[in-house]
Amino acid sequence: MKIPQTKIDEIASSIDIVDVISAYTPLRKAGRSFMGRCPFHEEKTPSFSVSQEKGVYHCFGCGKSGNMFTFVMDTENVNFFEAVKMLAEKAGIPIEFENEPYDPDRNKIELYYEVNAKAGRYYHDNLLSRDGAYAKEYLANRGLKDETLTKFGIGYSLRDKDALYRTFGGDYSLEDLTEAGLVLNIGANEVRDRFRGRLMFPIFNESGKVVGFGGRRMYDESTEEAKYINSPETKIYNKSKTLYGLNFAKGAIKQQGFVILVEGYMDLISLYQNGIENVVASSGTSLTQLHAKIISRYTKEVVVVFDSDLAGQNASRRAIELLIENDISVSVLALPPGDDPDTFIKKNGLDGFNRFLNRRLKIIDYIAESYEVRGGLNSPEGKTEFVREIIGLITKMRDPIKRDFYIKDVAERFGIYESIIRKELESFKGLKSRGLTREISPEKSERKSSEKAAKISTVELVLIRLLIDADIRAKELLMNGLEMDLIPNENVRKIVNYIMMNLDSPEKITHIVLFNEFQDEESKDIIGKALLDENFVMQGSKNKNYVTEAQAILSQLRLQSVRQRIKEIEAKIKSSNSYSPEILELLTAQQSLKNEQLELERSLKTL
Ligand code: CTP
Ligand code: MN
Repeated sequence: MKIPQTKIDEIASSIDIVDVISAYTPLRKAGRSFMGRCPFHEEKTPSFSVSQEKGVYHCFGCGKSGNMFTFVMDTENVNFFEAVKMLAEKAGIPIEFENEPYDPDRNKIELYYEVNAKAGRYYHDNLLSRDGAYAKEYLANRGLKDETLTKFGIGYSLRDKDALYRTFGGDYSLEDLTEAGLVLNIGANEVRDRFRGRLMFPIFNESGKVVGFGGRRMYDESTEEAKYINSPETKIYNKSKTLYGLNFAKGAIKQQGFVILVEGYMDLISLYQNGIENVVASSGTSLTQLHAKIISRYTKEVVVVFDSDLAGQNASRRAIELLIENDISVSVLALPPGDDPDTFIKKNGLDGFNRFLNRRLKIIDYIAESYEVRGGLNSPEGKTEFVREIIGLITKMRDPIKRDFYIKDVAERFGIYESIIRKELESFKGLKSRGLTREISPEKSERKSSEKAAKISTVELVLIRLLIDADIRAKELLMNGLEMDLIPNENVRKIVNYIMMNLDSPEKITHIVLFNEFQDEESKDIIGKALLDENFVMQGSKNKNYVTEAQAILSQLRLQSVRQRIKEIEAKIKSSNSYSPEILELLTAQQSLKNEQLELERSLKTL
């Protein structure tokens, strides 16, 4: 069943690539090409360029490029053959087939599915074996039932350096095991399992096949290691379009008419075990355009569960914008301080959770309430700020009718002239195109400090340098341990993201290419300093190696964010009524952050 090349050419020439791509991301004419926000990675300012004449696209942010066929393959999760079929249909061109299918990647893909499925079974067997006793007990202590372990295929990776490799090495080549994301070929004839001594959560694709794993740290003495490490992107695991748990949740989402979005593996599993099945997690990465697209195929309502901490809220803020852009209506469920969905449902049971769920607020009401609580709607300044915030969201809506509806609604409910809102909306659009939209921060004083936090820290510069210069071990450590949300500066985050995406192609991370990719002043400054400034070229003593340096950077990033959160809680405590019940929870949260701070400081000293 081969499709003749002439047919393919015919299809390509009768369809406009701009049409195809516009269905996924809005494009605007910019000179000779069209620009929009990349559907393959999360970004605020457009760096995705489409050439209508040439029929190709390229993202200057993540480096993805291709033509209409690869675009359909990637967005719809189909192979070349199916992509051609879909586009042929769109073009109204009937296709006839020659005999044999030809797809060089197909065999490999089947192989990676197979080996990941086997690895899943292998890890699960470990868990049930004597070596897994401690892990099994840990899971039992966290309240997971045996049937849940089976359902989610939870497993355990042995602590030996190459237990999996020794088991699988006879049947599969080193290259295949590496490409499938299971082992690390660290050179000098040394091979190591990617996951060692961790609880293993198989990650399933939409149709329920294992495509990768998340591994949770088990032994608390090894705190220098990341709490979670995840499989890398492979031919079968595309992080920007994999939603953890979707394969299990499908039916319940349709049935309930909405989906609950949580952050973690444990959160999802715990909710599921307790009877909440319409839940997915964006684990391992922040939500992308494609995730939002996929969700919108199932439902138009998402309930975002907010962690009580601010970092969580800002991460959710980006997710919320993406969802709104995809015409999904977003509600918010803000958990009490110190709780995540897992602990909450354990404490309050299914009924408690459902009661809480029924009090969820539409995003606009949620924002209104959080202003009201702080008395922010009493002053004209507060009100203005509130309106700006809301308008920021309304501008994201694609559907003009819906936008109009919201404008009227906000005007009426909050007693603001519609014309003022519309004017704001216009100026907001202006700001947006210059990339000046803001994130939520709760109070003015904090907004200032978070703007200051955007100043680039040494840690961030060293991080970039390590990603470029360090040896493979250190890079792997960074790849696995880095949490993007811990990087305060947005441009640094973009640069880091770009480098990580291109880690395998050194020619794409030379300073020449970097300076070309990132042309704004701040980014150029960042790149220049990271690569050239002597002060950052070696931090601390000379005999430190890359791995230790990488470990230190990960801890320092975490430390920065912990310190910031402590400050934020302090401010909240100061501004709260000392008799409010909230105080106790704030104090508890602060204490546990302070413990974490101490622990991090201690671990940094020993490095
Ligand atoms: N995560 C990650 N890498 C890290 C930390 C977190 O990929 N270094 C992702 C994981 O998908 C994790 C989610 O972010 O599930 C939420 O992190 P966290 O709340 O720290 O973990 P939990 O899933 O709640 O795990 P636990 O309850 O066991 O602490
Ligand atoms: Mn948790």
